[in-house]
Amino acid sequence: MKHGIGHAHGKLILIGEHAVVYRQPAIALPFSTVSVTTTITPSDQMTVDCIYHNGLLSEAPGELANLQAVVAACLDFLGRTGDCFHIKIDSSIPQERGMGSSAAVANATVQAIFAYFDTDLSGTLRFDLAQLSETIAHGSPSGLDAKVTVSDRPLYFIKNTETTAFDVKAQAYLVIGDSGESGQTKLAVASLREKKEANPSRINHLIQKLGVLTNQIRQNLATNNLHEMGHGMNLAQDYLAEMGVSNASLDRLVKAANRAGALGAKLTGGGWGGCMIALSQNLETARQVREALADSQASQTWMLAL
Ligand code: MEV
Repeated sequence: MKHGIGHAHGKLILIGEHAVVYRQPAIALPFSTVSVTTTITPSDQMTVDCIYHNGLLSEAPGELANLQAVVAACLDFLGRTGDCFHIKIDSSIPQERGMGSSAAVANATVQAIFAYFDTDLSGTLRFDLAQLSETIAHGSPSGLDAKVTVSDRPLYFIKNTETTAFDVKAQAYLVIGDSGESGQTKLAVASLREKKEANPSRINHLIQKLGVLTNQIRQNLATNNLHEMGHGMNLAQDYLAEMGVSNASLDRLVKAANRAGALGAKLTGGGWGGCMIALSQNLETARQVREALADSQASQTWMLAL
């Protein structure tokens, strides 16, 4: 049977979230432990089967407004407006947890639609289409999520300026803890924008300091200076909390990780819920941190060797 398949994976922002919206650098890691596959097959009507909805795409709930828009944009680009198919989305990326679910779904779906119509898809076009979806999901996305959810290497990224893939030389583990609360990237980004308008000098200063930390951590990764990197992550968490994008659950998990021997810990992604990450020097400490996070009510935990 005619079909098209697309894949993308999760992501973790190591450092620089929020500041990256304001053109400061950020570092993000592909997190392929969680991933999404979209499969397109023939159908008389435009239908979708995913966690949010099983039925007509036109009757999907608001959470799928970005999917509706990206499907329409793909058909428009392909000169296939009016064509119908069935979209099946299988994802293990937790939704609204700062792991790039919306960008990954957009990337996988764009790839699947182009494959279905047997049409080449350039990286630039895929990015532009995924960004269109991200703009609906997040308001003013930096583009980092759309890039890293299809990258197989870590990225150093500056909005509209630089995307550099690099290899991590550091030998360490990241432990990831899910607060169990839906992150609210769109609202957190909007609230920071309001704060920045109300108090530009204070917020701009914090944004700039996050940019400096990103560059420091890039160096730390190259030289395996884990202690300085952990310290940088703790400072980033302080700045993000001062910007108002952390919350009580994330603060609790960050504290628990540091008490259990992490070298540093911070939220990852949009904040206001979602996930945090902690840096551990070796597997034994990583396991202790993971246990401490579970004891502090993390709903899920993962480990990633750097
Ligand atoms: C969301 O994963 C990361 C933010 O920096 C927003 C963005 O980069 O568009 C909060």
